[in-house]
Amino acid sequence: MHLVSISGSPSRLSRSSWLLQHAVGRAGARVEHHDAIAVRELPAQALISGNVADAQIVRAHRALALAQGVLIATPIYKAAYSGLLKLFLDGLPPDALRDKPVLAIATGGSPGHLLAIDYALKPVLSALGARTIVDAVYATDSQLRPDGDKGFSADGALLERLDQSLELLLHRPAPLALPRRRAGASTQPAEVAVRAHC
Ligand SMILES: Cc1cc2nc3c(=O)[nH]c(=O)nc-3n(C[C@H](O)[C@H](O)[C@H](O)COP(=O)(O)O)c2cc1C
Repeated sequence: MHLVSISGSPSRLSRSSWLLQHAVGRAGARVEHHDAIAVRELPAQALISGNVADAQIVRAHRALALAQGVLIATPIYKAAYSGLLKLFLDGLPPDALRDKPVLAIATGGSPGHLLAIDYALKPVLSALGARTIVDAVYATDSQLRPDGDKGFSADGALLERLDQSLELLLHRPAPLALPRRRAGASTQPAEVAVRAHC
């Protein structure tokens, strides 16, 4: 699988980015190619002005276009996903996530904004064409304790939930493509494939 991870935290030492990297590591050999997009490292001016011709942003969009699976991580800011992530998502072409399974990861200071993934992030992913959004993973800061050089150490139950969602993402069958219709070909039902939507 070609996996793309998108980190939407503006922080260098980031809990949500740590979980994202952990998930990529757990995917291991099943990922043949991984592109990491750290939005904080993209040029701020291009993000703010919506300059999608910027070379780094073009590279990020190209990577996403080739992705077969997408991981997106964000901190919760003011009961929603980060503004930084929004800047990146706003610049994507329509249908940028079409036919790509997506796993969303969010971290927040309290469990109170657990539903922000459902009411804030998922509608945006859906507007970008995502139809297979596997069980999201939300973690509170207390489940991710600072741990020196390792960054953070995580609650066992949290890592188990992350593994489960990752499995769903990695095992998601690719949707069946509609067969190309030849000129003059019959349109009998036997020739029509069903497009899988989950
Ligand atoms: C500006 C700002 C706003 C925040 N708003 C919320 C919030 O509304 N709800 C919440 O649970 N945590 C909130 N937090 C806490 C962060 O979501 C939390 O610390 C998160 O783990 C940070 O993720 P990161 O380390 O990946 O940046 C806020 C933090 C900041 C800096």
